[in-house]
Amino acid sequence: MASVENKRALGAPFYTPEQSPPAGTAIDPATAPTLYQPLKIRDMTLQNRFAVSPMCQYSADDGHHTDWHFSHLSQFIIHGAALTIVEATAVLANGRITPEDSGLWKDSQIAPLKRIVDFAHSQGQKIGIQLGHAGRKASTLAPWLQSGGKHGIVASKEHGGWSDNVWAPSAIPIAEDDYAMPKEMTTDDIKELLQAFKDAARRAVEAGFDTIEIHGAHGYLITNFMSPITNHRTDNYGGSFENRTRLLFETIAAVREVIPASMPLLLRISATEWMEYADQPSWTLEESIKLAKLLPAAGIDLLDVSSGGNNDAQKIKIHPYYQIDLAAKIREELKKDGIDLLLGAVGMISNAEMAYSIVQEGKHEANGFSTEEGHTSKADIVLMARQFLREPEFPLRVAHQLGVEVKWPIQYHRAGWRKNQKI
Ligand SMILES: Cc1cc2nc3c(=O)[nH]c(=O)nc-3n(C[C@H](O)[C@H](O)[C@H](O)COP(=O)(O)O)c2cc1C
Repeated sequence: MASVENKRALGAPFYTPEQSPPAGTAIDPATAPTLYQPLKIRDMTLQNRFAVSPMCQYSADDGHHTDWHFSHLSQFIIHGAALTIVEATAVLANGRITPEDSGLWKDSQIAPLKRIVDFAHSQGQKIGIQLGHAGRKASTLAPWLQSGGKHGIVASKEHGGWSDNVWAPSAIPIAEDDYAMPKEMTTDDIKELLQAFKDAARRAVEAGFDTIEIHGAHGYLITNFMSPITNHRTDNYGGSFENRTRLLFETIAAVREVIPASMPLLLRISATEWMEYADQPSWTLEESIKLAKLLPAAGIDLLDVSSGGNNDAQKIKIHPYYQIDLAAKIREELKKDGIDLLLGAVGMISNAEMAYSIVQEGKHEANGFSTEEGHTSKADIVLMARQFLREPEFPLRVAHQLGVEVKWPIQYHRAGWRKNQKI
């Protein structure tokens, strides 16, 4: 009898069978739609274009991940998402949104993160972490403790909060009653923050992450600096576009300094704060386009385009492509100038049609789905949050709908739908 070997996953600190190729890989990528074609970003190769968008779980223990985080993240890893990005993780304790946020401000927080990183790698999948600071949105209660869908009920000291030490570029609260009154950061605070980003990035590398995403979106600290509505500083961190984006560029440089050149660096921004209607200077799509053009030289490989979150008074005209179109516009403007920057689209992506057409480059036909000659992609990857919570096997189901044969996790191979099976 020929010898049979049940190969173990190389480098895994526990026995698990090798997934070769990893779940979510097209059996024939050459004929597959762009959605199932690989993408190389520096030394990280994704086997498809699905990424799990970072999702706060407000479930950490003094910033340490627990079995909840492991279970939550492992579902996406098992089911073929090429990249899973760990939730917003605070670089300083006062950079948490809630007392139960994920953190990487001390070395003891590395080990539980390394556990999920090792697991992702044992499955042949890639994993990143979003590093950030909550700025003036810090020290609030977990969302499920807030009534009527309201956000931002202050976590006081008795709830483990630090409402007397909330940082912002200027002492402007989000709302008088519900959020803490932030302190205007001194230049020493800014230095401390940059050092914290550096230390957290070093810890992320030690945990084995494949990539880092800097959180520059949703009204957290970096957005607070970028917006003229929340940044009234008169020093060289406020005023002009150059000054308002200084903290962001210094953060990028601090992180790049401590991560390997082979490691991709991602940035999430809010492409607009949806305050154009208010007839006052605000962070707009035009400023995002200007920013995007400067990012490759600064060391950013992929721009993840989100929006909003900096003002309670934002007005958004929501439709399924309201955010995807922002990514597409930035991409179009970059192309005009011949600037190479990968784009990530996020927001309301919940079906095969959207995921397929957003990343499809050129004409393609697949199982009733098609794009025309000259069709241009709006982004290089699709990030999803809520759909992955509803349906962790989304990349496998979409493949079936598009008629693309993909690898399943080998332990689950008997569960794959039959060709043309209606689901
Ligand atoms: C439970 C939950 C937690 C989230 N936490 C984060 C986060 O940590 N960082 C972030 O940038 N966005 C966060 N978001 C926003 C998502 O990453 C995503 O941008 C948004 O939900 C829109 O995508 P979707 O329509 O696919 O859900 C969160 C969203 C949800 C639903």
